[in-house]
Amino acid sequence: MMPSSSCSSTSSAFLLSLFLLLSVPILFLLAPRLLPPKTLPSIPSSDETSDLALFRRAILASNSSSASATSLRLPHRRPPKIAFLFLTNTPLHFAPLWERFFHNQSHLFNVYVHADPSLKPPLPPSFSSPSFAGRFIPSKPTQRASPTLISAARRLLAFALLDDPSNAYFALVSQTCIPLHSFDFAYRSLFSRPRRSYIEIVADDPGLYTRYIARGDDVMLPEVPFDRFRVGSQFFALTRKHAVMVVRDRRLWKKFRMPCLRKMRDSCYPEEHYFPTLLDMQDPNGCTGYTLTRVNWTDSVEGHPHMYKPEEVRPELILELRKSNSSYSYLFARKFAPECLDPLMQIADSVILKD
Ligand SMILES: *[C@@H]1O[C@H](CO)[C@@H](O)[C@H](O)[C@H]1NC(C)=O
Ligand SMILES: *[C@@H]1O[C@H](CO)[C@@H](O)[C@H](O)[C@H]1NC(C)=O
Ligand SMILES: *[C@@H]1O[C@H](CO)[C@@H](O)[C@H](O)[C@H]1NC(C)=O
Ligand SMILES: *[C@@H]1O[C@H](CO)[C@@H](O)[C@H](O)[C@H]1NC(C)=O
Repeated sequence: MMPSSSCSSTSSAFLLSLFLLLSVPILFLLAPRLLPPKTLPSIPSSDETSDLALFRRAILASNSSSASATSLRLPHRRPPKIAFLFLTNTPLHFAPLWERFFHNQSHLFNVYVHADPSLKPPLPPSFSSPSFAGRFIPSKPTQRASPTLISAARRLLAFALLDDPSNAYFALVSQTCIPLHSFDFAYRSLFSRPRRSYIEIVADDPGLYTRYIARGDDVMLPEVPFDRFRVGSQFFALTRKHAVMVVRDRRLWKKFRMPCLRKMRDSCYPEEHYFPTLLDMQDPNGCTGYTLTRVNWTDSVEGHPHMYKPEEVRPELILELRKSNSSYSYLFARKFAPECLDPLMQIADSVILKD
């Protein structure tokens, strides 16, 4: 070992240059933390990695189950089911109403819940009762104005695809959604018609261009030219074929997963664009172009639709909310304040679930 005194001047010069060398990358590392970031938070890459593994399994399982079904020509012995995908960041206030909706139909549906991990209070016990058979799926944090809501919906789709090959429709609902008809009515209206996805697809919304450039000018190119960019309701009922299509997609996700620019926060609703854009590009004829979930945008504030209050809940409201401009009846509606549970339960059997 060299005695340190014999070369103190060389070593201090060495230390100085080492310090200078190191300080350049350190400055680069610190700069983004000292300046406010230009974009809203992005998706952690560990979340992306675990999602990708789940999606791969779902795609493989769907391929092999459809392959074996066709090669063996097995008759479909089991009836198709509806997978209800609850996306929530609060307790499920309307669980008792949903439970009544699902009553005695357990062979025709499955329930999957993606609850924000920060959700501390337990969900109502009715959701985990054997008759309800609700299941939590492994979840990740979600927040407004970020692609995390897309990830959560894709996670629900992938999980439901893997869980039960009988899942034939995948209906996304939230904690503020309620049913507008009986289960039997909903089931018949989905399965008595040609198998198509119910997702709103709008091409001519006035705010569309601002939303298109929410991540920056031209960044969506070449995958998503503006004339292919669509908007629609976040809440949909997809066919199994389209659920696989969504879980399989990586090309558009690469663009839609980018965080919005901070200054574009008010135009950042990725979940209202990703699904309609993807499905309109890949299979427009397989989509009806409208949603089964009624929402009231009159007097909306900061992107929030009208929230119904208990005093508005009357039989006439349910009848009004069912009406649509097409030959279809709406099956679900949002948004309802948690306090609406009591008045809704009072008209559940006599109005909502009576058909
Ligand atoms: C699944 O099947 C589709 C065609 O139906 C094929 O394009 C795709 O590569 C297959 N994926 C896997 C993971 O096997
Ligand atoms: C459940 O459905 C079966 C037939 O599907 C019926 O016989 C039975 O009465 C129903 N039970 C209840 C509690 O509604
Ligand atoms: C929609 O909301 C507005 C208030 O924002 C209300 O006046 C109107 O009655 C609602 N429409 C329906 C069909 O509930
Ligand atoms: C039906 O269409 C009209 C005009 O486009 C619109 O004002 C109305 O809100 C629509 N009604 C429903 C129930 O969607």
